[in-house]
Amino acid sequence: MQHSITLVTGTTSGLGHAAARLLAIEGWREIIVTGRSLARVQETAAQLAAETRRQVFTPLELDLDAPTSVQSALAELVRRGRPIDFLLLNAGMVPGKKRVLTAAGVEASQAPLIGHHQLTVGLLRANLLSPNARIVIASAEPARGGVPMFSYTDVPAFAAKHHQGDRTAAVEALIRNGPNVKYVPNHAYADAKLIIAWWTAALARRLPSGMAVYAVSPGSATDTRVVRNAGPALKYLFIPIVNLIPGMNQTPETAARRYLQASEFGTDVSGQFFASAQGKFTGPMEAMRQPHLHDRASQEAAWQAVVSVSGVDLSYPASLSAVS
Ligand SMILES: NC(=O)c1ccc[n+]([C@@H]2O[C@H](COP(=O)([O-])OP(=O)(O)OC[C@H]3O[C@@H](n4cnc5c(N)ncnc54)[C@H](OP(=O)(O)O)[C@@H]3O)[C@@H](O)[C@H]2O)c1
Repeated sequence: MQHSITLVTGTTSGLGHAAARLLAIEGWREIIVTGRSLARVQETAAQLAAETRRQVFTPLELDLDAPTSVQSALAELVRRGRPIDFLLLNAGMVPGKKRVLTAAGVEASQAPLIGHHQLTVGLLRANLLSPNARIVIASAEPARGGVPMFSYTDVPAFAAKHHQGDRTAAVEALIRNGPNVKYVPNHAYADAKLIIAWWTAALARRLPSGMAVYAVSPGSATDTRVVRNAGPALKYLFIPIVNLIPGMNQTPETAARRYLQASEFGTDVSGQFFASAQGKFTGPMEAMRQPHLHDRASQEAAWQAVVSVSGVDLSYPASLSAVS
């Protein structure tokens, strides 16, 4: 992969900001940084330039909750016409006590995946990812299981109970927080990050052969704004306790470094989910082996549900497609 042009989503704070800074230090020639409003992301780009003393940051407005914003960002990238080597889909959030749905009827913590899907498919269709491009999307440890307070939905069981076994309909219900889904913020977050891991595996099967995609948990880095909407139990009890335990927290820079590390992985591990070892939240990341993550029916159901909610699919000429 060439270290030329990269695009990082969600750079106005936290890990996206830290990743953009690290990429500049590593010598990337242009770093397109995104934020929900142009004014804010222009400020971010100026701040990053001052911090790194490198004039390599291009601000781009991108609100992943709004399909029109994704379309405008894509139109701008098409106008520029320069392929991206590393697409870092970092934006995400832990939702709050009050359920929030976007105008398109998507639960707020699920919405970044829908916008990221629209962006990624748009770039692929416009031939704006370089032949050896790497795509990294932020997941989180709850997707692998074993995280107190953050359990994910058993999709096959939920599909059997409420959707006549149709997993695509079940995943769509989770994305929309629809009928029969009780809104519990931490569970919604765990489901969002699990659906990301499945989507990644399904996308890997659809990418042209030189490209690769990985889901990456940056690990625990509580010194960001990720839980700004979360309830008091998480903010003022769980996280302070976790922070007291050695090895349970790391700096945003250390966490963001995982994204850069994954960008150097080969096509042989494309589609996999990398996170802290079972029982851990920091330290070296490894490929997750839990059977639910490797369930092909759930992976394809997640892809089809995202296609249905976003209204955007990826189709190539048969010669380029790796999907059987
Ligand atoms: N920090 C951790 O411990 C941890 C652990 C595991 C995974 N993660 C994941 O890492 C990623 C980065 O989190 P962080 O800790 O850096 O949190 P953060 O400080 O809150 O930063 C999140 C960034 O994403 C942006 N964003 C969120 N939703 C968006 C949307 N719908 N459209 C456009 N931009 C959106 C935010 O912009 P606004 O400010 O405009 O909302 C912000 O720039 C997230 O995906 C998170 O789930 C974090």
